[in-house]
Order: sequence, then structure tokens, then C-alpha cells
Amino acid sequence: MTRQLSKLTSQFNASPTANLIAKIATLREAGQKIISLNIGEPDFPTPPNIKEAAIKAINDDFTKYTATAGILPLRESIADKLLHDNNLHYDVSEIAVTVGAKQAIACALMAIVGEGDEVIIPSPCYVSYPDMVKLAYATPVTVPLKGDNFDLDIEAIDQAVNEHTKAIIICTPNNPTGTVFSEASLRELARLVLKHDLYIITDEIYEKLIYDSHPHFSIASISDEVKDHTITINGFSKTYAMTGWRLGYVAANKNVIKAIVAILSQTTSAPASMVQMAAIEALKGPQDAVDEMVKQYDQRRRYCLKRLRAMNHVTCADSQGAFYLFPDMSAYMGTSYGDYIIKDDYDLCHYLLESEHIACVPGSVYHGPNHIRLSYSCSLDELKEAMDGIENALTRLK
Ligand SMILES: Cc1ncc(COP(=O)(O)O)c(C=O)c1O
Repeated sequence: MTRQLSKLTSQFNASPTANLIAKIATLREAGQKIISLNIGEPDFPTPPNIKEAAIKAINDDFTKYTATAGILPLRESIADKLLHDNNLHYDVSEIAVTVGAKQAIACALMAIVGEGDEVIIPSPCYVSYPDMVKLAYATPVTVPLKGDNFDLDIEAIDQAVNEHTKAIIICTPNNPTGTVFSEASLRELARLVLKHDLYIITDEIYEKLIYDSHPHFSIASISDEVKDHTITINGFSKTYAMTGWRLGYVAANKNVIKAIVAILSQTTSAPASMVQMAAIEALKGPQDAVDEMVKQYDQRRRYCLKRLRAMNHVTCADSQGAFYLFPDMSAYMGTSYGDYIIKDDYDLCHYLLESEHIACVPGSVYHGPNHIRLSYSCSLDELKEAMDGIENALTRLK
């Protein structure tokens, strides 16, 4: 007899891309080459100066527990970074480091919401937000982003607010759409947040990956009052190609940070000590590796946008940030080729994987049906092959 699991886990979903990943693994085991446009991590190695800082920390025996909120020099480096890059004045007591930005978001939610609370998530959205809200026993409420470029729909968000609403989560630059929310729309959102006295969680993990001189703006920089309502999330995974190192951080008012640190202290404790030393080097050391990555992402982005927009019936928003494109494939819903019947974006991804060996993620996973998410964190040669494959596959659909 199987004993029952908790009520929480029964409402909670594991990653919806697990099936896709299993299928890719099976095809690869069978010797099939797959072009992975489904991966949400940089294809570049971690810059050498960051790796050396971690190795030095290990050789210096910096291998013990640290303060739960993170070592002081790292929190000081983060405070400096937030001041210089984002015009945000945070004291070190208002910063905690976490095991990836993911843990920062999950703990922030656990700190501020609970049963009966609602959290508004403009969507398409990062796949984990709705389930993280459920993990905090609250209810996610998705509100569509508007227009061809997936802007914040302030009116729709305002209408979704009720007496249960406690917080809004935004992500800019956005995963999966690549949109960078404008300062003007963030100012409107801030007004709404103050009007209803809500928290805003802003996930800025892709802030350095921006193109076309499209500026990133941190909502907390608007005023002290807005900052007091804001929980700013960031991390090292994307900017410094450090996904496996697992380091993120959260900046917020002292009360929120105190609650987050209490959760951390009873769960993971602080992130790995040598990783924290490496993170200081990431922030304080030379940034040319980041500039080079951004240059290459931009080249790939321009290439893919041009190719996708030249395909019949495909439209694609201007992706101004991150390393994702989110083309609209609505025109291909209801088409077929042989045994492949395309009812939705899941079917389309299945078809692209089986017929052209290209892995993409169905938009529905991000609450953006009829779209697919393509990540351009792979070489231009692979992207060329992938764009040819997608074009061929779409041309066959009738
Ligand atoms: C929007 C967004 N936030 C957070 C994360 C998780 O970042 P980390 O690796 O720092 O946990 C990701 C990773 O894909 C992401 O896309």
C-alpha cells in the first residue's frame, strides 16, 4: 500500500517540461543529434577569473558554514552593485544570498503570502512562479501581458486585484518573451502597487542581457516608498554563466529579509562558502566576458528574428532581453502532416522534435498558448540548422 503524500504536493506540479526532456534523452541515447533550443542556460563557460576565485577559496580552506544571509563582503559587493547599476540604496542588512534566484523567489513568497492570499502573475511567465506561489499555500492568478510585444497590462492587473491580493511577480527582461518592461509602464505598475498596498516581487536575473540599447529599469528605484513595497531578486546564473553554482540574492526591507533569513536558517543555511567567494570576483572583477556574451547573444537574436519573421504566418515579438524568442504559431494550429496533427503548441513541439530533431518548449508551459519558446543559447551554426529545420517543418503543414 502506498502511503498518501501531503495535500501540498498533490496540488504542486513538477516541471512540465520533464516529458520533453525524457524524450530528448531517449532520442539522444538512440544516437540522434538534437538541436536544443529548449535550454534556459548560457552555452558559455563560467569566466576563468570566477573559477579561479572558487579554487583559491577551497585551497585557503574557506570551506565552512557562513552567516545564513551570506558573507559580509559579498553582501557589500551586492549593495555596491545595486547602487551603481540600479540606483538602489540597500543596506547589507537588507540583502540575503540564496541557493539560486529560484530559492530567493520561493523564500520571498513564503515570507509574505499564505493561505487565502492571491498573487498576480503577468503572463506568459517563468514556469516556476505559479507553483512557487502554491508552495507558499497561496493562489496564483495569471493576467495576460498585452499586445504584440507583451507589455504590462496595467488596467487588467488593476481589475484582477481584490481583497485577497497580496503581491505581484514581474520578470524583466522577461522569460519567456524577451520583453524589457519600459520605465513608463513600471512607474504605472508602482502606482497601482502603492494604491492597493501590495508587495511587488521583481525578478531581474536577465538584467545584463539586453539589446538594442533598451535600458533595464529597477522598479524599486522609483522612490523609498516603492522600494519598501519591493522585493528585488537577482542572481549569477545568467549574467556570469554560473547556473550550476547556484547563487542568487534578494534585497528588500529589513522585515522581509529577516523572515527570509529565518526560512533559510531552518532549511538550506547559506549557499556554499567558496561559491560566495567566486561571486565577489564575478561582481568586482573584469566584466569583459559578460560584454562578449551579450555581443554574441545579440548576433544570434538578430539572425533568428530575421529568419522567423521571414517564415510564412509566423510573427515574433521584438525580444529586447534575455536569450529567448517567443514566436506566435497560432496559424499552424489545426494543421497536419501525415500522422502529425497539430492541435496545440505541445503537438507542434513534438512534431519539430520528431521530424527535425529540434527541441523547443511549448508556450503553454509559460501560460502563453500557441507560441513556442526558443532559446538562442547555442552556436550560430546550430541556429542556422534549426531555423532551416523549423522552416521546412512548417512548410509541410497543411
Ligand atoms: C526568470 C527566471 N528567474 C529565475 C531563474 C532561476 O535562476 P537560478 O538559476 O538563479 O535559480 C530562471 C532560470 O531559468 C529564470 O528564467
